[in-house]
Amino acid sequence: MAKAKTTASVLVVDDEEAFRNVLSELLIPEGYLVTTAEDGGEAINAVQSTSFDCVLLDVKMPHIDGLEVLSFIKSHYIDTQVIMLTSVDDVKIAVECMKLGAFHYLTKPDSTDELLPIIEHALEHRHLIIENKVMKSELARLASSSQIIGQSLSFLQVLELASRVAPTDSTVLIEGASGTGKELFANFLYRNSPRNEKPFVALNCASIAETLIESELFGHEKGSFTDAHQMRQGLVEIANGGTLFLDEIGEISSVFQPKLLRFIQTGEFRRVGGNKTMKSDVRIISATNRHLDDEVKAGRFREDLLYRLNVITLRIPPLRERREDIPVLAKNILQRKARARRPVKLSEEALNALCEYDWPGNVRELENVLERAAILSADEIIHPKDLALPRHIVTVAASQPDGVNRKLGTTISLREIERDHIDGVLQQTKWNKIVAAKILGISLKTLYTKIQQYNLSRPQ
Ligand SMILES: Nc1ncnc2c1ncn2[C@@H]1O[C@H](COP(=O)(O)OP(=O)(O)OP(=O)(O)O)[C@@H](O)[C@H]1O
Ligand SMILES: [Mg+2]
Repeated sequence: MAKAKTTASVLVVDDEEAFRNVLSELLIPEGYLVTTAEDGGEAINAVQSTSFDCVLLDVKMPHIDGLEVLSFIKSHYIDTQVIMLTSVDDVKIAVECMKLGAFHYLTKPDSTDELLPIIEHALEHRHLIIENKVMKSELARLASSSQIIGQSLSFLQVLELASRVAPTDSTVLIEGASGTGKELFANFLYRNSPRNEKPFVALNCASIAETLIESELFGHEKGSFTDAHQMRQGLVEIANGGTLFLDEIGEISSVFQPKLLRFIQTGEFRRVGGNKTMKSDVRIISATNRHLDDEVKAGRFREDLLYRLNVITLRIPPLRERREDIPVLAKNILQRKARARRPVKLSEEALNALCEYDWPGNVRELENVLERAAILSADEIIHPKDLALPRHIVTVAASQPDGVNRKLGTTISLREIERDHIDGVLQQTKWNKIVAAKILGISLKTLYTKIQQYNLSRPQ
């Protein structure tokens, strides 16, 4: 803080000359640039012509009093920190000052001892406000150019990390549940990187048979397997100099994992059926909706590969953990969809319903719900009934085959209730363990443990 302190400018406002002098004598040796004003009018003129980091403001002054000056400063120069000084200790006035945005309120006899540390705090606070403002506007610029929408703190933190790693060559792993925007972020990283004029090549590891991933990525020589009638270049060759996006990386087989690891470490690979070692320079971005840490623990994913992939991890929180983003996303989605159709708006009740829903399918589900609602709405307003939100969580509880609810409060043990509930949710989700774990609010790993512990199995 020393630097901020020596260059900080402070305005001292007090109608008593003696007190102005006391404060000047205290502050000048500390390196502050001090200006004084003897009443409210002079203070307002001063803040309009010079920008002050901090203002020490007497509450009681003739004509324009300290409270009026405070509210003028706070409505025009929000960064300027104001510390109120008063000769009478009056709680009501203190409260009023804090409401108007004063940084601190001090009674005069104590002020000289306490003042210096409080000014330092005020200046630190001002720096934080400014940094935050710069960060937000920079992020807003980056985001709007890539159509990434969000305003919650947790989302902005991910976006901030993404904008810092984008220009590097660092390997990035994007973790997030289905529909949270992993592909959108992969694109953002690519577009804000120096490789953005080179190819961006994506492979969805879940959409292709395990055995074909290797030839897809590394290519194959003619005749290397039954259907290999021609030599084919792999995606890593095509992406040379650019970016390779491996989507659903958790799906790659344990046979291919060491080969991918070697490629990441050395840039070297061989075509399937080939014996020539080739090289390619690609930046790797990967994405997964699994927790790869859990996959490592379960022995399905190599730890050394994970360490190579997750040099930087972007964890996109599910929508239900950042509900502040729902209104802005909804507005943006409706604007985008409206390009093709008449514009539609959400009623207040519909917006409330969107904000309360849990969004297991995240932003993609929100897009689908709004698209359908925009078509279904009879007028230009979307009402709650147009949203037709699935009430999956409620339904699961209400539709237990043997009515767990009926047992509640009887002589049944918690263990049994837990077992029945997990079993019911698994059946309801057709044994989709990822979705079931989400509904139950436990990790996938815990769900596996419970399935074993209670000996649950999928009905044939
Ligand atoms: N923050 C956001 N701002 C704007 N649109 C978003 C945002 N997040 C997601 N979307 C939109 O939601 C949809 C789903 O996003 P995306 O395909 O990137 O998700 P994903 O995490 O890759 O999903 P999956 O796991 O199903 O592959 C896309 O149409 C995307 O544009
Ligand atoms: Mg995706």
